[in-house]
Amino acid sequence: MIKKVEMRVLSSQQIAKDTTEVILENKYISENAVPGQFIHILLEGRTLRRPISIADIDQENKTITILFKKLGSGTEQLSTVSSGTTLDVLGPNGNGFNTDLQEGTTVLLIGGGIGVPPMYALGKEYKERNVNVVSVLGFQSREHVFYEEKFQELGKTIIVTDDGSYGKKGFVTNVLNQVGDFDHYYSCGPAPMLKAVTSELKGKPGSISLEERMGCGVGACFACVLPTKTEKGYKKICCDGPVFNAMEVVL
Ligand code: FES
Repeated sequence: MIKKVEMRVLSSQQIAKDTTEVILENKYISENAVPGQFIHILLEGRTLRRPISIADIDQENKTITILFKKLGSGTEQLSTVSSGTTLDVLGPNGNGFNTDLQEGTTVLLIGGGIGVPPMYALGKEYKERNVNVVSVLGFQSREHVFYEEKFQELGKTIIVTDDGSYGKKGFVTNVLNQVGDFDHYYSCGPAPMLKAVTSELKGKPGSISLEERMGCGVGACFACVLPTKTEKGYKKICCDGPVFNAMEVVL
């Protein structure tokens, strides 16, 4: 159930170019959030809340981690919050990833840019349940890369950069032939990347998160509407997603 809570900022730091990591404390959110969900933050002086995906969940310490890119005045403001302050938050929002794969199976995580964070929370949960985790992460360039070591702790990790300044050069789809067999894939990133991934992995079981295309996050602005192959036709990413079956949506 979505609740309005106050989350205390425990830390905030820049971890890559234009990318900030903030650790927030709240018992309710940490105990109820699942990978793939997002929180809805109301910043001081603003009227609209901002949806930000959850990158890590730590129930023991009652915290969650969010990672975001400075893309406008809202995220710029969020990147300046200081430790000890509190944020007005609604959450956890949206439908998370299904995590029903069994011990001994293999999942492939494919993240692009700021679509990488939700892949981490998911991979961590699967690793704890002895599911094999293979990750392919795409970034613009070396200075945008983050969480490489954290993903390596989960399993085999391939880094790809658009300009080849770090890892392999190209797009995530260029290295999918190097990942071996898997039972289910999960992907989050820009729409063109998801389109390429779902086309490349056509016929394989997969789930995608379209969180990058969210606006208001509450079903009011229609910025997130997308066509699907289901009876319902159009669906809203913020309310019906952000996670969908890879074969269900028309990208
Ligand atoms: Fe505004 Fe979904 S983000 S309706």
